[in-house]
Amino acid sequence: MLNVTDLGEGIPLVWIHGYPLASSIFEQQLGIRNVRHVMPDLPGFGQSRPDGGDMTMDAYARLIIDLLDARGIDRAVFAGFSMGGYICFGIARLAPERMRALILLDTRETADTDEARKGRYESIEKVKKEGVQPIVEAMLPKMLTPAAPREMHDRVREIMSSSTPDGVIAALGAMATRPDSTALLQEIKVPTLIIVGAEDPITPPADAERMATGIRGARVVKVPGAAHLANYEKADEVNRAVAGFVRGL
Ligand code: MLT
Repeated sequence: MLNVTDLGEGIPLVWIHGYPLASSIFEQQLGIRNVRHVMPDLPGFGQSRPDGGDMTMDAYARLIIDLLDARGIDRAVFAGFSMGGYICFGIARLAPERMRALILLDTRETADTDEARKGRYESIEKVKKEGVQPIVEAMLPKMLTPAAPREMHDRVREIMSSSTPDGVIAALGAMATRPDSTALLQEIKVPTLIIVGAEDPITPPADAERMATGIRGARVVKVPGAAHLANYEKADEVNRAVAGFVRGL
């Protein structure tokens, strides 16, 4: 069973977090009004226990679809951050009829390069030996710009540190084996908003622009002064873009 925050009333908006994070990374998005925020912790992250096995993006996607079934939600807006975006592509593959609209935050449609995949497997070995902390410290400088306040770095570190080794290992395996979703882009027929931190070093603005050329009608919002975690570092700008997008549906 996934731990889920389910708050507010209105159109369901399912927020899917990235790696190595948890649903609380969307805590500032709870300020967006007139929507029902559904924020699951993926297995082994935040307050959800690990599943105990290997994962794939489609397996994560199925967990999210099951969650909608359990809560009586037929269609939702899906907002996926980074690995959460990879999971959104899984939902678009498996159950496009459940998608009312799509928000892609600091993510990309392509699969890992061979070099990136090798890095994932090296990270798995590192986590087995040393736990999640080295991963957390390596990721933190990419998540926020150096200009972000100290308390923000501390809070993001705290959220990342709630990840379990099993959860992180499963996510690394799922990211390493995820399919390329380039061909899927033209199958996405729902309104799509793409948001990216202008200084994102993991999934830079060029990734957002490329996805936008593949998804009909997709719009890109570039957030100045934000790195990978644009929704956390520049929450007001991201919330304004999301609220306007949802209002227009
Ligand atoms: C994430 O933020 O979910 C990850 O950095 C994505 C990735 O490593 O590909």
